[in-house]
Amino acid sequence: MKIELTKESRRSSIDFSNLPFGKNMSDHMLVCHFKNGQWQEAEIRPYGQLDFSYGLHALHYGQSAFEGMKAYRKEDGGVSIFRPLDNFARLNRSAERLMMPQIPKDLFMGGLKKLLEIDSDWVPDAEDHSLYIRPFLFASSEFIAARQSDDYTFCIITSPVGPYYSGTVKVKIEQEYTRATGGGIGFTKAAGNYGGSFYPTSKAIQEGYNQVIWTDHKEHKFIEESGTMNLMLLVGDTFLTPPLTDRILAGVTRRSIIHLIKDQGWSIQERPISVDEIVHAARDGELKEAFGMGTAAVVSQIDTLGYKGENFSIPVPVDGKAMYIKRMLNDIRMGRSDDKYDWMVDLSVSETA
Ligand SMILES: Cc1ncc(COP(=O)(O)O)c(C=O)c1O
Repeated sequence: MKIELTKESRRSSIDFSNLPFGKNMSDHMLVCHFKNGQWQEAEIRPYGQLDFSYGLHALHYGQSAFEGMKAYRKEDGGVSIFRPLDNFARLNRSAERLMMPQIPKDLFMGGLKKLLEIDSDWVPDAEDHSLYIRPFLFASSEFIAARQSDDYTFCIITSPVGPYYSGTVKVKIEQEYTRATGGGIGFTKAAGNYGGSFYPTSKAIQEGYNQVIWTDHKEHKFIEESGTMNLMLLVGDTFLTPPLTDRILAGVTRRSIIHLIKDQGWSIQERPISVDEIVHAARDGELKEAFGMGTAAVVSQIDTLGYKGENFSIPVPVDGKAMYIKRMLNDIRMGRSDDKYDWMVDLSVSETA
């Protein structure tokens, strides 16, 4: 691997007490090109500009996918990444569906570890802070013809981040637009899935909500995801979450939280959940808690459910199950409790931020 270090770190110019999500990039990035059917030598170099012309294939045809995961500063000063192998596997699932080459494990994991070791002082140490890691793969041939690209580029960039949402969220159950269709690419982290979601989301924001709850593509009768999070509901004393389909992203946070819930001996069902069922539960006071689960926000409590112009309040207890689950996850990530599931991948660094 080629390594070119920055001549001047930008670290001291960043205010670590105010970290808007995804705005400040760390000093270095990983770049690796796929050309002539082969991965070339990977390179770590100072974060900088794209090297391509305006014919860049990914810009025209959307052959592009990404991942999102986080590294944490543990209480002993060390740095650990949360379940990176799950993100690695998911990026390769996205790559397969989008006709892009598989990324070798050594390139992903070896490149990631090296990059984070070099930029380890960019990993914040405050509660609810972390280093957000954005691996991405895009078509990098330079031609405009609607067929798959020949060349591809894999990169990893990172950004120190604070909490994603500052409070609880208000969501609207979407009744018109669709994020993903059957047989489509909803289960991938294709860039285009996000491009298509901004319009309906901005309409919901204009109506006073923070996010939409996506519903099924045929009849909008079943709930699927909430914005860029998987959804968990507590109805009575049973947790409910929609089952994974080709329209739903298999969240790493979702999988981890299901594991934690089962380990507590709490009741959980992965099954189709109708909008009617949830609206009735909310009306009858049976919907005890609702939250989104995802890398960015971790656990995001939902305080209001909007449906056909009516708003339903949902309790957001500070000492409820959502916050208990969030604490359990954060304790594992920050090294305050045992990593008994083997979720954390430690780096060989010891600096403190
Ligand atoms: C559409 C969508 N659903 C769910 C998630 C949550 O997935 P994860 O927990 O792996 O971040 C994300 C974020 O990655 C997402 O973009």
